[in-house]
Amino acid sequence: MPKMSAPITVCAKLLLCQIKQPWKQLRKLSLSGNPSVKEILSQPELRGQKISAKGWVKAVRAMKEGKFVDLGDGSSQQILQVVVTPCCDKRDITFGSCLEVTGLLEQSKGQGQAVELVAESISLVGPCDVSGDYPFKPRKRYSADYSRQHLHLRQRTNSFAALLRMRNVATQEIHRFYQSLGFIQVHTPVLTSNDCEGAGEVFHIMPGIQASGPRKNTPDTTDNSTPLMFFDTPAYLTVSGQLHLEAVASGMSKVYAFNTAFRAENCQSRRHMSEFYMVEAELAFLSSLDDLMQNVEDLVKTTVKRMLETCESDLTLFFQHLSPKGHKEQVQKMLSSEFKRMTYTDAIGILRGQPGLKSKAEWGDDLSNEQEQCLVKQAGGLPVFVTDWPASAKPFYMRPNPDGKTVACFDLLVPDVGELCGGSLREDDLDRLEAKVAKLGQADALSWYVDLRRYGATPTGGYGLGFERHLQWILGINNIKDTIPFPRWTHHCRM
Ligand code: 4AD
Repeated sequence: MPKMSAPITVCAKLLLCQIKQPWKQLRKLSLSGNPSVKEILSQPELRGQKISAKGWVKAVRAMKEGKFVDLGDGSSQQILQVVVTPCCDKRDITFGSCLEVTGLLEQSKGQGQAVELVAESISLVGPCDVSGDYPFKPRKRYSADYSRQHLHLRQRTNSFAALLRMRNVATQEIHRFYQSLGFIQVHTPVLTSNDCEGAGEVFHIMPGIQASGPRKNTPDTTDNSTPLMFFDTPAYLTVSGQLHLEAVASGMSKVYAFNTAFRAENCQSRRHMSEFYMVEAELAFLSSLDDLMQNVEDLVKTTVKRMLETCESDLTLFFQHLSPKGHKEQVQKMLSSEFKRMTYTDAIGILRGQPGLKSKAEWGDDLSNEQEQCLVKQAGGLPVFVTDWPASAKPFYMRPNPDGKTVACFDLLVPDVGELCGGSLREDDLDRLEAKVAKLGQADALSWYVDLRRYGATPTGGYGLGFERHLQWILGINNIKDTIPFPRWTHHCRM
């Protein structure tokens, strides 16, 4: 139909044009209409042009040559030097204020920068009263503990802005990794009626109102002592998307999720938060734990390599000033080495041979952080997969090994942080699974999960990797709460 084809052709042409000249098109489409500081500093064709730039004042310098402002907008670590000509000088141009500057982008007369923006007009978009409570001062480095007390302004510091850019790149690279292997991304629910890990660390959903309409399976609604319920079953914030992901894998083969997980752990450690992001993958037709571990190792190495390539200056800031000495070399060693693998039983044997550990290694117990770090040290400071854990120490969904005592699973332990990733082959025997969920008193709640083994079951395996722990380890960050913009932990959910 000719009438229909015309607009489609126009759209196709526009799309082609965007693909050929993405930056120009994006600039036209950008909300501010201005190039970012990153674009200004990296686009040679802008030199000699009249441009406008927006950003926050990182420093003001009054020199005998004139007044200079360092303008940053978060797009990169670099700042744009603005020459404040007398005609557009204003008293309110203070550290922290937000400006729009229009002028000529010229080759810089000073040292330290290739170009500078010679202001023709400066408009004060948002003043910043530095004489008040503004918590940061120019050219000062703040401790992570201090910056964390000002979460709403923390992204104004160089180090946290760098962290956010790297977090962004790591997120993209994780998606790229799975997409390149043909995995399908799945959005698993945040609201759920199961506690996948069975550890009782769930946040319960308490609605503000009673749901209207008829209710099923719940006590008498006329009884005022009945707690408010919205769903017909108790509901929680998810601790892991695994069970739902398994359901989708049982029709889509290779799937992954990159979603929030919530844990009500009453824990103040520097490795735990109540809300964090988990990268989870689930593979149907998988019966080799070794293949699963290889996939995790590839994920870690591929994303870190890409971060090294794309976030050079932000990583340098961390490696030179924020992470422990020698951290960069440790990361490089990790990339060129194979991750170690050992069974849990061997790990207990190694730990028993180590004098001076505070906790005694007992077969059947979980590993303490000290024990985890001892194993990593024994492995030359490299990540270690500890496999085949006692069934009693792990959740119901793991597949038993032929020895009848252990399950086909792994924990990946990494330097400083400890457990980065946990995975397993999934219980695929219908009778055994039915018996396990019945023993947990979950026969009704998990009947849908058991159905997955009833109808067209395949051997399946999967894992979950803590995204913030990944960043914490790679960037050498002491406290996990400094890897996410708004950390939540015990007693801390104020904004
Ligand atoms: O070992 P976990 O509990 O495994 C699961 O939840 C599985 N259902 C995942 C799966 O197989 N799909 O958690 C996975 C990872 C841990 O290894 C750790 O890195 C991270 O999630 N994690 C936390 N990160 C920050 N704060 C917490 N409170 C965390 N708890 C777990």
